[in-house]
Amino acid sequence: MTVLPIIIAPDPRLKLKARPVDRVDTRIVTLMQDMLETMYLAPGIGLAAPQVGVLERVIVVDVAEKTAPPQPYRMANPELLWVSEELSVCNEGCLSLPEFYADVPRPSRCRVRYRDEADAVQELEAEGLLATCIQHEMDHLEGQLFVDHISSLKRGIILRKLQKLKKSKAYA
Ligand code: NI
Repeated sequence: MTVLPIIIAPDPRLKLKARPVDRVDTRIVTLMQDMLETMYLAPGIGLAAPQVGVLERVIVVDVAEKTAPPQPYRMANPELLWVSEELSVCNEGCLSLPEFYADVPRPSRCRVRYRDEADAVQELEAEGLLATCIQHEMDHLEGQLFVDHISSLKRGIILRKLQKLKKSKAYA
């Protein structure tokens, strides 16, 4: 297993649309495992492949409580089959925007279809933090960050601060 460097915003690589995975083969399974290790170490509850410089439609998520056993999801080509009309607001963060948070409204429940680590098609109905996290990670596959859901004023402030931090701290 390998811990991968996480790309910090603002970065043009985080604005690109990821391409679908043909098949979940050993390369993709290894990528999923490395992404989980990277996410747990950070620590975070979700990570999308574009955040580690891989422009493919792969995300990993684990929203289990710290004291509970891990409950990782490895998803290739996730697609939303359904989202609830009801929204919920979550104070979101992102490993690509370290230490910045903002309230983002999203559908409170969703149904997602994906390919798992065995290349089997799965469907999952999610709610609460899991639903939020899956939608957040899927946004990354479209080149979208959580700050794209807030006002351009707030977004500008956060991105300028990150730009300064990157210069001073030698982030990747
Ligand atoms: Ni994120």
